[in-house]
Amino acid sequence: MSTAVHFHDQHVEGAGGTFRDDVIQGLGATPKALSPKYFYDERGSRLFEAICEQPEYYLTRTEEGILAGAAAEIAALVGPGALMVELGSGASRKVRLLLEAMRPRRYLGMDISRDFLLKSTRRLAADYPWLEVHAAWGDFSRRLALPSGVEGRRMVAFFPGSSIGNFTPAEAEAFLSRLRRALPPGSGVLVGVDLVKERGLLEAAYNDAAGVTAAFNLNLLERMRRDLGAAVEVDAFQHRAFFNAPASRIEMHLVSRQRQAIILEGQRFVFEEGEALHTENSCKYSVAGFQALAARAGYRSGAVWCDDQALFSVHYLAND
Ligand code: AVJ
Repeated sequence: MSTAVHFHDQHVEGAGGTFRDDVIQGLGATPKALSPKYFYDERGSRLFEAICEQPEYYLTRTEEGILAGAAAEIAALVGPGALMVELGSGASRKVRLLLEAMRPRRYLGMDISRDFLLKSTRRLAADYPWLEVHAAWGDFSRRLALPSGVEGRRMVAFFPGSSIGNFTPAEAEAFLSRLRRALPPGSGVLVGVDLVKERGLLEAAYNDAAGVTAAFNLNLLERMRRDLGAAVEVDAFQHRAFFNAPASRIEMHLVSRQRQAIILEGQRFVFEEGEALHTENSCKYSVAGFQALAARAGYRSGAVWCDDQALFSVHYLAND
């Protein structure tokens, strides 16, 4: 088997919802907001990898521990020879914990960051020569179609990292139900979900001492400058992350330190002192709460694994 990656371009240009269109819309809105998917340009994807290594960011190492410990059980639920589709595959690191046990026939990584996706899937193909590796560049939150030539009788959709937390619960339910309709019977979803916990632990994870999360958040403004030619005083904004308990989510914002404007294509977007651009929600669930959401999306809860401190959960949702 060759180590070439089958590349599929599912990127939709100019159909609305591009970075430019969403920045103009989001900076013009009240309150100002922008989708967290725009964090992940090349630099943002690298900063996210660095976040995962911060001591305060318990999510990644906890989920990796759960996956490593449950790999044999997960493999038994999925069975060999499946098509494994990873949504937001990033560095394709976590999937490595499952591949040897699961022995899928095909792997498809889907990600919004093109070069990062290519590099990661090429490394995966080189390290697992028995695996047929595909990469689909696109925004799976908008368009969830399997590229032609990639199918499987049984699929496992792998959605790790608690990326599902970027959706509101209503959006997560709609997304999971859309995903279910794309899954052949006998398939399932393996999804990582961060759990509600004490505020101090949650807030520390999004305010690491090394300032990597702050750099990740502020990169959104640098990206406006780099990719869109916007005039932005990045230093005049401050990273803020806090737990919104009633909504059960971490919120990230970029807060203006002074009255100022971002100028894009001649348009001035004025920020008052202390005004925020809302850049991310990261929803936190209880195990039962997430299982109820999955049931509303039409799944049977097949199994759930947690670490012994109940920081994080991994769910297998079956579509029978
Ligand atoms: C990739 C969405 C799971 O919400 O924890 C990390 C992104 N933002 N630090 C998360 C993120 C700030 C991350 N997800």
